[in-house]
Order: sequence, then structure tokens, then C-alpha cells
Amino acid sequence: MGLFVGGKRAAGLAFPPSSMSRALLALHIALAVNTGLLFLFRAWRIFTGKALSRLWRRYIPDINDVLLLASGALLVFVRGHSFAEPWLSVKLGCVVGYILLGILALRRRNGFAFALALVLYAYILLLALTKQIWIG
Ligand code: HEM
Repeated sequence: MGLFVGGKRAAGLAFPPSSMSRALLALHIALAVNTGLLFLFRAWRIFTGKALSRLWRRYIPDINDVLLLASGALLVFVRGHSFAEPWLSVKLGCVVGYILLGILALRRRNGFAFALALVLYAYILLLALTKQIWIG
């Protein structure tokens, strides 16, 4: 059940967000946008046969994604969520799918896996922003 903070319902939160949790959320959102941009950038280089240094192919995306997962896991506790919430468990499953499809797309130059990864990414954003499953 959500709380009413300053007349507005704090969606799905067990307690009002602290400034630390707001900063963590801002970081998480920045990392979430970055993962999508880095994925598009790598796909563009790889699918068009352009050179891609190890820094951009592996290190920067890997560091971004480890921080994204870690900030997401921290947010669950800091903002009083539970992995039993449907939007969160479905989101986690979709994140695993997005990562696996991304690896398949980039390593094998698989266009279908690339398209599917983008669809999953959009669905993850929808889940995060609305906290509704939307399907089923
Ligand atoms: C591709 C990966 C991910 C993307 C694109 C993503 C995206 C987002 C976005 C855009 C928000 C902000 C929602 C809002 O402003 O209301 C958010 C919040 C959140 N995310 Fe993620 N996320 C990802 C991975 C994860 C993972 C792996 C976890 C958990 C382990 C996680 C847990 C959370 C939590 C707990 C919130 C805060 C919800 C709230 O209290 O408002 N996220 N995510």
C-alpha cells in the first residue's frame, strides 16, 4: 500500500523516500538510460562492420551494467520493495532475458535477437515507470 506524501501518493513505497534513496534512484535511471545507449552504439558498430575497441565493447558496458544491477538491488531494500511484487519479479526476468539476447545479438550479429532485446528493454522501462505488468 502506498503512502500519501505532501498530498501525493508515493507509488508502491512502504515508507517515504529519503534523499539518499532519491539520489540512488537518479543514479539507477542514468545507468538504465546508459545501458540502452551503449547497446545501440555497440550494435551500430558491429552490424555495420566498424571497429570497436575492447574499452567500448566490454569494459564500459560491463561496468555500467554491474552498477545498474547493484543500484537496482539496493533500491529494492532502500525503497522498501519486495521481489514478490509482480512488476519487480517480471522486471528481473526481463533483465536476464535482455542481457542474454544482447550477448547473442552482439556476439553472433543476430538481428532478430537485437530486435527482441529492444522490445524487452522497452517493456522493462514500462514496468519500471508504471509498476504494472500490462500483459495477462
Ligand atoms: C535494463 C535494466 C533496468 C532498467 C532499464 C531499469 C529502469 C528503471 C527506471 C527507468 C526506474 C525509474 C522508475 C520511476 O521513476 O518510477 C527504475 C526504478 C527501479 N528499479 Fe530498475 N531498471 C533496470 C534494472 C533493475 C534491476 C536489475 C533491479 C533490481 C534488482 C531494479 C530495481 C528497481 C527499483 C527497486 C526501482 C525503484 C522503484 C521505485 O521505488 O520507484 N531495476 N528502474
